Amino acid sequence: MTTIGILGAGQAGSTLARASVAAGYTVVIANSRNPETLTGLVRELGPLASAAYATDAAAAADVAFLGFPYSPDDLLPAEELAGKIVIDNNNYMTWRDGHFLEVDSGLKTIHELRQEQLPASKIVKAFTHVQFHARAQMRVPSDTQPALIRLARPAGAADRKALVVSSDYPEAVDFVTRFYNDLGFDAVENSPLKESWRSAPGTPMWRHHVDGQSREELIRNLQLARRLGG
Ligand SMILES: NC(=O)c1ccc[n+]([C@@H]2O[C@H](COP(=O)([O-])OP(=O)(O)OC[C@H]3O[C@@H](n4cnc5c(N)ncnc54)[C@H](OP(=O)(O)O)[C@@H]3O)[C@@H](O)[C@H]2O)c1
Repeated sequence: MTTIGILGAGQAGSTLARASVAAGYTVVIANSRNPETLTGLVRELGPLASAAYATDAAAAADVAFLGFPYSPDDLLPAEELAGKIVIDNNNYMTWRDGHFLEVDSGLKTIHELRQEQLPASKIVKAFTHVQFHARAQMRVPSDTQPALIRLARPAGAADRKALVVSSDYPEAVDFVTRFYNDLGFDAVENSPLKESWRSAPGTPMWRHHVDGQSREELIRNLQLARRLGG
């Protein structure tokens, strides 16, 4: 059974934990504080989940998920994450995190900066354009569910949505493709990481982050992207 080490227990991390446990994955989840602060969440998640300090969650992970923004000052458990696939779920939000010159100039993507921060890990950008919270404008009762859960469909469903995946490591793309499938989504690859600006906030595919897009729509929207940063 694959263990997902989830670093970050906010909207993104806790929702990914719920979806992962529902799909049969084991999760070890951490925030920036201590595991006791996650007792209620772990109780709600059930026997496949446990809480740990971030370093211990990274050590326990077969695959890790980073559910917090990028900062050049991040102190990450690089040794515990070495050799592992690390899912980077961050979006380049300048209003929140400030500007990074390499990203604004198009020299690097925010995910290449994360790869430089964790050089021994296999960074893969994924889940960045699916909402981990309820739909802002409610229409039907299921809109109270986070989009990651509300939009999930079994393989082959006519209204199945697709999510993008980018990495410099084919094995990381393969894992995320299987993980997406288990969680109810098709995958569209947009590798390597230097191409991942095509799914940054503000791009054509990004505008579908509320109600999702089919595989064909996602492929077309990635092709329509014009460089904005990210
Ligand atoms: N929310 C969404 O719908 C959504 C969708 C797509 C992508 N994203 C991306 O997901 C990331 C997180 O967003 P969010 O909305 O989940 O934020 P959030 O609710 O503020 O949660 C951030 C979490 O990360 C933890 N954290 C911060 N630094 C950490 C570290 N070094 N080690 C371990 N845990 C750490 C925080 O711990 P404390 O509680 O102890 O402070 C908190 O639990 C962002 O990069 C965002 O761009 C979010």
